[in-house]
Amino acid sequence: MVDKIPRHVAIVMDGNGRWAQKRGLPRMAGHRAGLSAARIAIEECAALNIQYLTLYAFSTENWQRPRAEVEYLMSLPEEFWRKERKFFEERELRLNFLGDMSGLPETTRRVLLEAMSSTEERTKLTVNLAMNYGGRAEILRAAKLYALRFPDGSGDEDAFARGLYTADMPDPDLLIRSGGEKRLSNFLLWQCAYTEIVFSDTYWPDFGARQFRDAVAEFQKRHRRHGGLLDRGAGRD
Ligand code: IPE
Ligand code: IPE
Ligand code: MG
Repeated sequence: MVDKIPRHVAIVMDGNGRWAQKRGLPRMAGHRAGLSAARIAIEECAALNIQYLTLYAFSTENWQRPRAEVEYLMSLPEEFWRKERKFFEERELRLNFLGDMSGLPETTRRVLLEAMSSTEERTKLTVNLAMNYGGRAEILRAAKLYALRFPDGSGDEDAFARGLYTADMPDPDLLIRSGGEKRLSNFLLWQCAYTEIVFSDTYWPDFGARQFRDAVAEFQKRHRRHGGLLDRGAGRD
């Protein structure tokens, strides 16, 4: 099934700090360089007609980092949008947000809301920015919504999933983690039940088109059975 294209790719963009440290640069330089890698991943997804790309940019646990680093990370959506809004316009891309926006600084929130509302009509590729995102927090939120809607517990898994940030989106077919660690770090815990995972040792700022294509090629070689015996193929039909 070598021609299967994932509908939804999710990426844990890890390794920015180590990339910078290796070069004797401050960690922030790694985060900044990571923006260009995100742009490349978006271009690759658009070129392959992938419908959803979810980028893990800041976890609910990342608040534990030094204040200056947190502040810098919170300023990146603004920088990203200043640089890339034209590109999003040209390619008809949509920017969406996953996470608890109420916990973000006012300026970050404003820029994201503006980016979301100005692109919401677009359908080609949706880029989900996961920020102040935690899989457990998301599941807890969905559980509360479910309990309100189905006090008798009669809802099914699809009904539960409508309370997730990813409501109405397909689950990721492929999850890529750069930076060498082999864990989920609280990312898309519900949605990744049957996701194919590709780990790469490349630090995120060095993760280019070649690494992205290699990850997709690896995905295309996988046999997805979802617990059954039939190979359901790698991506969409
Ligand atoms: C990923 O890079 C970006 C965020 C978590 C915000 P890191 O900052 O975690 O980089 P390493 O893992 O320390 O190299
Ligand atoms: C995961 O990376 C979060 C993001 C990439 C935003 P971390 O660097 O925070 O994960 P751990 O701490 O290595 O698990
Ligand atoms: Mg890390």
